[in-house]
Amino acid sequence: MTKIQEPLLSVRDLSVSLTTRRGGSIPILDRVSFDVAPGEVLGIVGESGCGKSLTALSVIRLLPKAAVVTGGQMLFQGQDLLHRSDPDMRKIRGNDIAMIFQEPMTSLNPVFTAGEQIIEAIIYHERTTRAAARKRAIEVLDVVGIPSPERRVDDYPHQMSGGMRQRVMIAMALATNPKLLIADEPTTALDVTVQAQILELLRNLQADMGMSVIVITHDLGVIADFADRVMVMYSGRVVEESITRDLFDRSLHPYTEGLMRSIPHIDEDVERLYTIEGMVPSPGDWPAGCRFHPRCPYVTAACNQAVPELTAYSPNHSVACIRYEIPREETVSCLEVK
Ligand SMILES: Nc1ncnc2c1ncn2[C@@H]1O[C@H](COP(=O)(O)OP(=O)(O)O)[C@@H](O)[C@H]1O
Ligand code: SF4
Ligand SMILES: [Mg+2]
Repeated sequence: MTKIQEPLLSVRDLSVSLTTRRGGSIPILDRVSFDVAPGEVLGIVGESGCGKSLTALSVIRLLPKAAVVTGGQMLFQGQDLLHRSDPDMRKIRGNDIAMIFQEPMTSLNPVFTAGEQIIEAIIYHERTTRAAARKRAIEVLDVVGIPSPERRVDDYPHQMSGGMRQRVMIAMALATNPKLLIADEPTTALDVTVQAQILELLRNLQADMGMSVIVITHDLGVIADFADRVMVMYSGRVVEESITRDLFDRSLHPYTEGLMRSIPHIDEDVERLYTIEGMVPSPGDWPAGCRFHPRCPYVTAACNQAVPELTAYSPNHSVACIRYEIPREETVSCLEVK
């Protein structure tokens, strides 16, 4: 009998609102739920402004000041992160959960060398000696593919290329062997060749270290060969979730369909690249019903009536769109047949 594996992270109905200057409250994440199993790679996809980063920042409890969690649960190894104290969370960040961001220049401190920053991270979390931490820093720089790491360890961020800086960020994140790595648009700021190298690096490191990874991107193509499962977000909601193979075989949600068509292909004329018409609405301007309806090519009069719930289409594939909701009569007739 196969043993059902407990998820490492289980997020249930996470809702976050933004407090406005006038004391109002605008929802920005709306009942987001997902699991990440040990050793699993989950991709979170959606255009800019869909709530991907805020989902990640909620998990590590580093939301911007104006954003407050209004509901839900975030179980990490069975304990709710929402109820952990700030000192506990500081320990968890870095020890158990590490995060890398899109632009390493803003995450690395320009006045310290790469090595000093990695060494600090190691000492903070492992209470080891500076000499041992420096040795480990050189090792991890080597692991992430920095040439001559014993020399590069003393370089400042500005002496490195964008790709190198991202490698340093990854080294810093991995120096303490986290159980979960969250990579938020880790390759977006890089050119295509370097992007591919960094993805390859992350894939290899994940395979070697066996950690869980959440990789966030606006480009479905980035995670096609990396993620085991994909969660598509639109306007603060999960609109589709599936194992990657099924999603690429048959995407169900019209928004995912649009994202699929937007994946750049090397042999295609860049100017002809497909884009989904219209824009992601700002949180204060979410339309009634399905938030995608003003942009949806399949919209019907029923689409602005209620927010479609995420429903299982098959055991590994869920979607939130009325085209896949089972009509009530059908459910009744199924029961009657029995
Ligand atoms: N600090 C903030 N103050 C106000 N609004 C914010 C803040 N951070 C994010 N938002 C808004 O919340 C929404 C989701 O943001 P985000 O999670 O960063 O999206 P994504 O990562 O998918 O691009 C966006 O509309 C964004 O403008
Ligand atoms: S519910 Fe309607 S508007 Fe929304 S994605 Fe489905 S068909 Fe399109
Ligand atoms: Mg983001």
